[in-house]
Amino acid sequence: MGNKLIFLTLLALSLPALAKEAARDNYRTYCVQCHGMAGNGKGVNIRDMSVQPRDHTDAKAMSARSDDTLFKVIKEGGLSIDKSVLMPPWGDTLSDDEIRDMAQYLRTLCKCKFGGN
Ligand code: HEC
Repeated sequence: MGNKLIFLTLLALSLPALAKEAARDNYRTYCVQCHGMAGNGKGVNIRDMSVQPRDHTDAKAMSARSDDTLFKVIKEGGLSIDKSVLMPPWGDTLSDDEIRDMAQYLRTLCKCKFGGN
């Protein structure tokens, strides 16, 4: 009984960390080729891209985006928020929960939140 409680408490405490780690893994799998390993928009693809990927470490640009907008553009792609089609939609690849965690992960890259720092 006591052990179970300790286990559940540890689980509850570690879930946010696990979600963040999973989001970082997804970022490294799906996003870095354009947005770069450091998230600074300098991925290996960019030489041939007519529209350059967002620098996710740019606090000024990223704080102009609400979490809902980040969710939408990741899920439905650049066109959904009148941005470039070169930003692909990820709704078939990532679950809604994974996309929400991804948006939070982007907040750690820009060290910013919506509406300021
Ligand atoms: C094939 C290249 C490519 C890949 C892969 C890619 N992106 Fe993008 N992304 C772009 C481009 C290009 C833009 C800029 C679009 C524009 O400015 O019109 C962009 C813009 C964005 C934006 C910012 C929109 C804004 O201006 O507010 C977010 C957030 C974003 N991408 C998240 C992601 C995430 C998360 C992944 C991985 C799941 C990802 N991108 C994968 C190319 C890519």
